Amino acid sequence: MDYMDSGMRYTPKPDKDWDTSVQFLPASDTKKLEKKKGPGRIGAVVGVVVFAAVLSLMTGLLVWHFHYRKDVREKRMYTGSMRITNQVFEQAYENSNSTEFKALAKQVAEQLKTIYSKTPQLAKYYVGSTVEAFSEGVVAYYLSEFKVPVGQAAAVDSAMASMDKLVDKAQRTAHRPGNALVFEDVVSSGVSSVFISCFTIYFYDYTQHTRANHIGTITSPGFPNTPYPPNTYIQWQLRADPGYVIKLDFDTFNLEEDCKNDFVKLYDSLVAIESRAMEEICGYYSPSDPLSFLSSRNVMLVTLVTSEKGNYPGIRAHVSQVQKGGAGMKCGGKIIGPQGAFMSPNFPNYYPPNTECEWKIEVPAGKWISVIFSKFLLFEPGQNGKDCTKDYVAVNSKKLCGEKVGQVAETVSSNVATIRFVSDRSFVDRGFNATFKAIDSLDPCPKMFQCKNQLCMDLKLKCDGWNDCGDMSDELNCKCNESDLQCKNGLCKPMFWQCDGVNDCGDNTDELNCGCKADQFLCLNSACVLKKKRCDGRDDCGDGSDELDCGRTTSTPCNDVTYKCKNQMCINKQNPECDGTTDCADGSDEENCDCGQRLLRFKGSRIVGGQEAEQGEFPWQVSLHVKAYGHVCGASVISRRWLVTAAHCVQDDGKIKFSQPRTWEAHLGVHTQRMPGKAVVKLGLKQVIPHPYYNAYTYDNDIALMELASDVAFSDYIQPICLPAAQHVFPSGTTVSITGWGATREGGSAASVLQKAQVRIINGTVCNRLMSNQITSRMLCAGILSGGVDACQGDSGGPLSSLASPASEGGRSFLAGVVSWGDGCARRNKPGIYSTVTKFRGWIKEKTGV
Ligand code: ARG
Repeated sequence: MDYMDSGMRYTPKPDKDWDTSVQFLPASDTKKLEKKKGPGRIGAVVGVVVFAAVLSLMTGLLVWHFHYRKDVREKRMYTGSMRITNQVFEQAYENSNSTEFKALAKQVAEQLKTIYSKTPQLAKYYVGSTVEAFSEGVVAYYLSEFKVPVGQAAAVDSAMASMDKLVDKAQRTAHRPGNALVFEDVVSSGVSSVFISCFTIYFYDYTQHTRANHIGTITSPGFPNTPYPPNTYIQWQLRADPGYVIKLDFDTFNLEEDCKNDFVKLYDSLVAIESRAMEEICGYYSPSDPLSFLSSRNVMLVTLVTSEKGNYPGIRAHVSQVQKGGAGMKCGGKIIGPQGAFMSPNFPNYYPPNTECEWKIEVPAGKWISVIFSKFLLFEPGQNGKDCTKDYVAVNSKKLCGEKVGQVAETVSSNVATIRFVSDRSFVDRGFNATFKAIDSLDPCPKMFQCKNQLCMDLKLKCDGWNDCGDMSDELNCKCNESDLQCKNGLCKPMFWQCDGVNDCGDNTDELNCGCKADQFLCLNSACVLKKKRCDGRDDCGDGSDELDCGRTTSTPCNDVTYKCKNQMCINKQNPECDGTTDCADGSDEENCDCGQRLLRFKGSRIVGGQEAEQGEFPWQVSLHVKAYGHVCGASVISRRWLVTAAHCVQDDGKIKFSQPRTWEAHLGVHTQRMPGKAVVKLGLKQVIPHPYYNAYTYDNDIALMELASDVAFSDYIQPICLPAAQHVFPSGTTVSITGWGATREGGSAASVLQKAQVRIINGTVCNRLMSNQITSRMLCAGILSGGVDACQGDSGGPLSSLASPASEGGRSFLAGVVSWGDGCARRNKPGIYSTVTKFRGWIKEKTGV
């Protein structure tokens, strides 16, 4: 492998290395700017000499061009594998120093030479072949080198692309020695130029044979103490016993974001053959989001390619072997009964390549079958969702492929069905899980509504303003009920979305004629009451809002909506704290208001979906790192000493003591992960206080406090967020911000630059229905119900920030919620769930004094 081991490392000159001797022409030095006079005699002699020199140089160039240049050749390497059908595998073939290996390798190389010699485009340029490895089967992995004249590369590439045909042809010819090897399953692919021509490459090669009951480990060089090295190609050739496959589980995956720079690529082979590539991965995956792969045979190649730039911790993976068709790989079979479930092998992790499963489903006679895929991830580069020529699932003859958002339903008009899952030899994904049930052909959705896409929906969900089917069909042709608003285009939307400044109907009818009649007052719950009923001491709106802000700041009875001053008096102004007006007689509503403001100015912009935050835009955002793993959760600064995060972030698991202060390092003032900057302050913790009533099953009371080991100094990039009073109201429909470095799509990798997005607070009753009654009063829902915007894995513990009035008018941000949980990420009708901070105001005060 010395072609990659050039040893030299390119060291760029530092940017600052300017040539300081450069001078600019002084404008006054006019002589230098004057044109010269015409040539004299000396000039003529110089001219002749120069002319002669130019002439001879050109002659030289022409001679070089026509005589030698056609011989400029480039090196081209091809790697491939083939099965030798008339040999039996011997253990010694695993060791490239054994005589058995050398003998068989020599024979393979000789036969390759014969094969190439029969093809004129190859014979002329062939240099030689080496055998890299053998595996069970017997499979030979080879590397062939050619020296190809510039301009001929395409011809050689195309000849090599049909290597299987060349081998077939050679094997059909008559005079072959009796002991010749017989090749089958021949594949080949060009070796990427990074591996051949790059003068900056370091090369590492590891081989590992996993045995029964043994778990091996592979780590990037330097892990976990130092970042992995730049400009390096590392490969791990993994083998297992015959009849087994390799299982690779990453417990740490932390590479540069851009796969163009650094990536891990896995192959279902022992050499890097493109047609056997399983997956290319880069970026960061949270330890709680497992990445696990299976090979199709007893070999796997893991490669790590790194570029010049970046400083990232790297990877660690565990290697084990599992019996072919064993646990996690089983699939297919006969399922008889009125309902059942099935899924792709290794689900929810990556299915192995080169796999076929067939399920025969049979429901009672006379019934039809409805198959519902709740997850469907069969992405493969180069495959469009229509032809499904690569990995696919077929329900009888209907093929499905690609990645699908939401549920997918297929109806079979018979009581038997055949489901086939096929993964080809390259690229794998996380697969699918599905359920089926017997249905009545005349009434496929008994007591339910049938969507156009064949899903069945609870009748209550029809015309409720939410796109439950996913294709909007439950929201078309609706007669809205009283609690709903009728859009002109036929849609019904929840009343509380009327006049909230957002076009929910799609035709803007929910935003027309906003406000009440001239003599009416618009309540917070969108009701209209006569103006004269406002501030009459009676709750006419039903939510008390006609009795708020009545100009009287004292002697209001204390209740759930009134604000309690330090002197225990209540005022009937909504959210009076830190709004710049003293409302309490003792002024306590304007105390401790050094919070929730950005010191830097930002252009106000409306955000659709997530986008990068500006540096210092959310100065209360904290990144909680577990030492050696990197970012795990978010948190918010509430004072110089204290942070608020989620309780589920600080629960111990088998491996890591998340509940211990010493496990953590709080990174404050961070904008880009792993990019140290002057603004960043890293602090240890003194204590971690999870809420005593946190429930790990329901995520109720999902909040925790963290005390920093020492006070942090506030700066442009580190500021506390305001804590809302217990009575603070964040009305449904309010636009709030979410921020974090979590995954940028469900199951995806984490962001390196802080991401921000805007979502809206969703009515608790509606949310409880959407989230199957899992919402308690300690939970707050926020999201964009059409999908696409949400928090995700890795954002947990971070802030849901609510800006009281525009920041440009001195508005402050309040911590409305703490990122807690969700059903997937950014799915339709599945809002994000946050811990309601107002409910914990007393507890926070008690523990921290803030
Ligand atoms: N529990 C996740 C974490 O640990 C956060 C999930 C938030 N999900 C959502 N869809 N809003 O990072």
